[in-house]
Amino acid sequence: MSAILGVSALFHDAAAALLIDGEVVAAVAEERLSRKKGDAALPKRAIAWCLAEAGISGDALDAVVFHENPIARASRVFVDCFRNFPESFRQFPVALREELGTKLWVLDDLAAAAGAPREKVYPGDHHASHAAYAFYASGADDAAVLTVDGVGERLSTAGYLASRTTGLSTPLFQTNFPHSLGLFYAAFAALLGFEVNEGEYKFMGLAAFGEPRFKAEIAKLAAVTADGSVRLDRRYFAYETGTSVGYSARMIAEFGEARQPGMPWELGDARDRRYADLAASVQEVLEDRLLDLARILR
Ligand SMILES: [Fe+2]
Repeated sequence: MSAILGVSALFHDAAAALLIDGEVVAAVAEERLSRKKGDAALPKRAIAWCLAEAGISGDALDAVVFHENPIARASRVFVDCFRNFPESFRQFPVALREELGTKLWVLDDLAAAAGAPREKVYPGDHHASHAAYAFYASGADDAAVLTVDGVGERLSTAGYLASRTTGLSTPLFQTNFPHSLGLFYAAFAALLGFEVNEGEYKFMGLAAFGEPRFKAEIAKLAAVTADGSVRLDRRYFAYETGTSVGYSARMIAEFGEARQPGMPWELGDARDRRYADLAASVQEVLEDRLLDLARILR
């Protein structure tokens, strides 16, 4: 018997999944058990639930795999802080607290939470985790796999080949942070007052109520080149210097004031209709860019 526990944590929506002989036998998000929406904490309850569901203990696990590589992640965060100093001065203490406080030691904490020996705990790779999940859950024997994300350790976008016999290739193309379609989308969601990493689905819903009349202007902010690279116009984004929102002063100058979070929507009101038109425009640009990437990969 082979038993592998996969865990994602410390960003958003922590979860655990248990595979026995290649089959998923248990999987649950921590929020379902802790009753905290989007709970990102190390998912101790989810791990315990998966092990109990399969009737095994942590020392029976052959491997415990974290969804990304914490050392590669921390190095990207710190190098970007140094590179962007002094503009990154607000981010630096946050990075120190988050990375050195918990994230860098997560593999040790994971061993303790799973009750598994530390040498059986492995770092994963953020985009390979997304790609493997998409591929192995698809039922296909061979596939091209495209991952488009906010940011992993360093990658935001990658194209792979995958096969049941040989597994996942190294990326055929890739783009590094801060050029990221996920962050492009999140910046506009934040501009419209939605919570980043949570409210994007509402932003997508809003898009259906608008007219994409700003599409030409927004299309200039995010390009996909013929080699499969994503390129943002960095003057509009602030992912390396801001702490909570990803858009810059230039974004506000061109697309208008940010909407106050939590206000009820009135689509009969010209101001809110304009926001809905912005959302519709961003949605269309995103879909075009995703299709560009898919065509290049194909
Ligand atoms: Fe991700």
